[in-house]
Amino acid sequence: MALRPRSNPFAILTALLLVLFLTTLAFNLLTAQRIPTAPGGVDVHAATELLLKVLGGIILLVLLYAGFARIVRRDSSPSTGFVKDNVFLDVVGRLRDKEHELERLRSAAEERAREIESYNENILRSVSSGVITFNRESVVTTFNDAAGRILRFNRADVIGKTCGEVFGANSTVAGLLNRCLSTGEAITREEFELYLPHGERIWIGVSTTLLKDREGRLMGTTFVCTDLTEIKALQEQVEMRERMTVLGQMSAGIAHEFRNLMGTILGAVKLIARQTPPDSPVHESIQTVTHVISDMDHLITQFLNFARKTDPDLKPVDMGPWLKRVVEQVLEQVPPPHPHVEVTCFPDVPRIRIDEVLMRQALGNLVQNAVEAMPGGGRLTVSAGLRPPLGRRREVEVRVIDSGAGIPQDRLGKIFLPFFTTKPKGTGLGLALVHKIVLLHNGRIDVESQERKGTTFRISLPIA
Ligand SMILES: Nc1ncnc2c1ncn2[C@@H]1O[C@H](COP(=O)(O)OP(=O)(O)O)[C@@H](O)[C@H]1O
Ligand SMILES: [Mg+2]
Repeated sequence: MALRPRSNPFAILTALLLVLFLTTLAFNLLTAQRIPTAPGGVDVHAATELLLKVLGGIILLVLLYAGFARIVRRDSSPSTGFVKDNVFLDVVGRLRDKEHELERLRSAAEERAREIESYNENILRSVSSGVITFNRESVVTTFNDAAGRILRFNRADVIGKTCGEVFGANSTVAGLLNRCLSTGEAITREEFELYLPHGERIWIGVSTTLLKDREGRLMGTTFVCTDLTEIKALQEQVEMRERMTVLGQMSAGIAHEFRNLMGTILGAVKLIARQTPPDSPVHESIQTVTHVISDMDHLITQFLNFARKTDPDLKPVDMGPWLKRVVEQVLEQVPPPHPHVEVTCFPDVPRIRIDEVLMRQALGNLVQNAVEAMPGGGRLTVSAGLRPPLGRRREVEVRVIDSGAGIPQDRLGKIFLPFFTTKPKGTGLGLALVHKIVLLHNGRIDVESQERKGTTFRISLPIA
């Protein structure tokens, strides 16, 4: 810090007084010899003598004060002037400068802390993984936006609550945190199904670590989660596709064998018929056998159609008009009574690439099942809309909703299996074929149903 130039008021004052004193002294000596005092006038000599005494007194006082001030300041450094510089003012000035400097540093540090905090917050806000931190008492201290999205919670509803209050004391999350705290070991990429308090079921992948400060003291735990629900669904679809391919290949082989054997039976039956007299009652039995064999042949043909390897012929299709046309065509072939039908397509749905023939078959099967589930009439809604994006994957969702009998929960897992049917004349191949066609389009299908309320089938098709 630069020193300010030092002015010394005592030295200047004393110098001035000395000059005045010497001038007065010279004047006094001169007047004593040359200027006679006029009768009745002022005695100049006596006046200058008095002035000299006063000036001498003042000089003495100034010198005494300067000496006193020096002692009080206890400054032993050699003086540059008559009295020491104004050290006190200087020190005060320096202290003020220091104070300003400290203030500047403090606000710079605060600004930096704010920057770091908002930087951290921005990172937490931007990451797609859910990040939750718990303190040592398992109270939620951080809950980023992604965690809210994945776990369907409001940040404000969970901050300050314990893990048990948010997820349940016996929940998998609480178990993971306890495990992490008790063993002190990080838990990486654990996958589990989570039942959210609102009743929803999701799949999440979780990593949990201990949260420590710089000195290594335990502050709590971090919980990082990613939503695996969609990935799991896709995984299931792929597994199902593989199973279906294997099943298709195996059963197609068996079906061909059956067909050959049935041909032999049919040939033998025809031979018996030819050798039997026309009025014999055996002809009735022969006819029954022939009918059963032709029904079986029909079934096998359908199954082979289903099991046959097909390459979809994909072409861009405008969903709105296409959907209307297909639903109308399908309903024409379904015997009445027809339900009340509504077909909608949201304007933001783009053209998607589908195999029109195959997709008509798929939609036709869903519409037919819906109509069959509402024998007394009801309401059928077919719609197309955009699904929320799944990562970079964008999808159009086609829904077929009926207000029919519904499907019991324990049956939902079986309806896509070939030959599963609850209808006396059903083949159980309709939904299996729908599933196959959807998979051929690299899409997904799921179903939601409530008994006596109705069923919703959702087909998600990728937008190329
Ligand atoms: N919309 C629906 N409402 C109620 N049950 C349905 C619906 N769609 C399908 N199902 C059930 O799924 C089974 C299998 O359907 P599907 O594969 O088309 O074979 P099918 O129609 O020949 O029985 C049906 O028998 C029925 O029990
Ligand atoms: Mg059917």
